[in-house]
Amino acid sequence: MIMKNPFLTNKQSQESFDYSDGHTPEHIAIIMDGNGRWAEKRGMPRVAGHKEGLSTVVKVVKMAVKCQVKILTLYTFSTENWKRPKQEVDTILRLPKEFLSVYLPDLIANNVRIEAIGDLENLPAHTREAMQFAIDRTRDNNGLLLNMALNYGSRNEILHAMKGLLKDINDSNQSLDELDEQQFSNYLYTAGMKEPDLLIRTGGEKRLSNFLLWQLAYTEFWFTDVLWPDFSEMEFLRALKDYRQRKRRYGGI
Ligand code: FPP
Repeated sequence: MIMKNPFLTNKQSQESFDYSDGHTPEHIAIIMDGNGRWAEKRGMPRVAGHKEGLSTVVKVVKMAVKCQVKILTLYTFSTENWKRPKQEVDTILRLPKEFLSVYLPDLIANNVRIEAIGDLENLPAHTREAMQFAIDRTRDNNGLLLNMALNYGSRNEILHAMKGLLKDINDSNQSLDELDEQQFSNYLYTAGMKEPDLLIRTGGEKRLSNFLLWQLAYTEFWFTDVLWPDFSEMEFLRALKDYRQRKRRYGGI
């Protein structure tokens, strides 16, 4: 049976844009903020905003595939988000399974590989198992890497990396003088992934909220007041167009 593939059949933004331009960011990281306010503005419970936010995730993944982005990292649930009411936490942590149970066939058809970064062991079993299933099923794909930050906090990641590194150094004869940035970054959850070229934050706030503190050292930032459920294909392209104007010097001249 031929499956309907919304990734290929949906009408896309008609704005003129050269999707294959060599200056497209290879790795885009997104802080998807504003779900709660989107719902509150409509007199709806906050969880309705997270569900609507999932529709934006689907749109943005399609756009990333179309624009040949190599890595898309989505800040889905932070180590600090446990402080929210239980019902909200439960809803957010059910979304990965909901998303994958509907879209995994499309993601596979589009050669998307799924990964997760964060302290996955302390997630509910249903979230962990849905993620692991998708990671295993898409392991050999080499298109877009869809990287979901789940129970992720950058300070926690750096501490976790430090512990692993010190243990390995203790067990070996390596001198601390030989330790360099590359070796350290191999212990981060993002080991082997190119650092983000572009960080997008929706929802009007201008902060990093404990997201990828090591990895964003030379990343270009793009902020918008648009709330995540309202973030559209056009907004995504606006961020990419803006990125194309940036001159990245990495501390040089
Ligand atoms: C922040 O908005 C958003 C979150 C804490 C959750 C984001 C999760 C999704 C969009 C679903 C993603 C699902 C998958 C499968 C990738 P907020 O609640 O802090 O908004 P507010 O600042 O308006 O209160």
